[in-house]
Amino acid sequence: MNFFDYRDGQLFCEGVSVDAIADEAGTPLYIYSKAHLLERYNAIADAFKDVDTTICFSVKSCSSLGILKVLKDAGSSFDVVSGGELFRVIKAGGDASKVVYAGVGKTDKEIRYALEQGILMFNVESHAELETIDRIAGEMGKVAPVALRLNPDVDPKTHMHTTTGKLENKFGLDFQHAGEIVDNLGKTPNILLRGIHLHIGSPVNSVEPYGEAIDKALGFIEEHKDGCASVEYLNTGGGFGLFYSKENVPAFAEYAKVITERAKKAGKKLIIEPGRSIVGNAGIMLATVQYVKFNGLKNFVITDSGMNDLIRPALYDSYHHIWPTRTSTPALPGASVEGVSTVKSDVVGPICESGDFFAKDRLLPDVSKGERLAIFSAGAYGFTMSSTYNTRPRAAEVLVDGEEWKIIRKREQWEDLVALESAE
Ligand code: LLP
Repeated sequence: MNFFDYRDGQLFCEGVSVDAIADEAGTPLYIYSKAHLLERYNAIADAFKDVDTTICFSVKSCSSLGILKVLKDAGSSFDVVSGGELFRVIKAGGDASKVVYAGVGKTDKEIRYALEQGILMFNVESHAELETIDRIAGEMGKVAPVALRLNPDVDPKTHMHTTTGKLENKFGLDFQHAGEIVDNLGKTPNILLRGIHLHIGSPVNSVEPYGEAIDKALGFIEEHKDGCASVEYLNTGGGFGLFYSKENVPAFAEYAKVITERAKKAGKKLIIEPGRSIVGNAGIMLATVQYVKFNGLKNFVITDSGMNDLIRPALYDSYHHIWPTRTSTPALPGASVEGVSTVKSDVVGPICESGDFFAKDRLLPDVSKGERLAIFSAGAYGFTMSSTYNTRPRAAEVLVDGEEWKIIRKREQWEDLVALESAE
């Protein structure tokens, strides 16, 4: 079901016109659909129900407390990559004992905090990290549960910046070093090896790389049977694809088939860490057209939102469908715009660099000052990657639930931006 849809030429999120929200909340604005979030969460849970699966929503993809709370209430656990993300999960009422914690550079302070909170396990990315966790756990009189994050050297066929399971990437342990660790667990007495973790990239729009990576991981467990005797969990990470405009994205059931049949065969419980596939299409960003400028070569639609609000096009050249919120020719992501009267335009922001764009040479209806544009599929890695570059306050975030909506993050003000600074 489409929770963002046009009715009589106006874009709605569930039962509310997005313009009605923006009239009050202003732009740039992130708007999320609670029903969409829940539908996607429940769809994943359903697809993986054949195996004991812990779904750890990947907090980095969309970390506002209001979003985490919805998912927590639906039964989600969480995947974090910093002490700050763990703090957020706890603030949102999440259960620390269901949190997995990855990341190549965990600090002593973060490790200590996570041990105090009693997380489910660390996803360990190096020998040096394992020794650090062992030492800190020893000082605290605790045993630290860990999974080893393996780098399976598999190509997920995605953007190079979001490929994580190849040996040229900084993530995880190569099999030789991981093998040395599991064969010498006696040297780290404050460590309990509970799992094997993988995360090969994002988005992975095919299922084969998962099969290949998991087969390698299961081969590793088999080869190091004794050291891996305490391994109960196989964590296959996140990375499931998202429909932005034209990609062929496997259904959750197709990913689940490849993953669960292997977990079953190996007799392991599963952990998965989806982010984008749950929240990506649950959110849009609204921008208001400030100026339109034609320079003889190009038409520029200049908005009040910039790369500081949504950096994905600048960073990954990623495609986001963009369309006016009020229009006589509605078009949702993937819709053909053939036959629609359009102007080829670059949609850009006000920031002082040429990387500040949302779309290049895009066919858009003719728009003018004051009209609003919806930038679709912005729920994942949208707000969480936003910044205050050019001293621009970060956008507000709104959660829609049926006919109702509420602000889950207020718009920052100029005062907020200097609140921690001093000119003395
Ligand atoms: N688990 C780990 C260890 C991860 O590093 C990630 C994402 C995930 C799970 C969640 O992956 P997802 O299900 O969301 O694909 N900023 C980039 C994406 C970076 C992904 C980083 N890691 C983007 O905007 O495309």
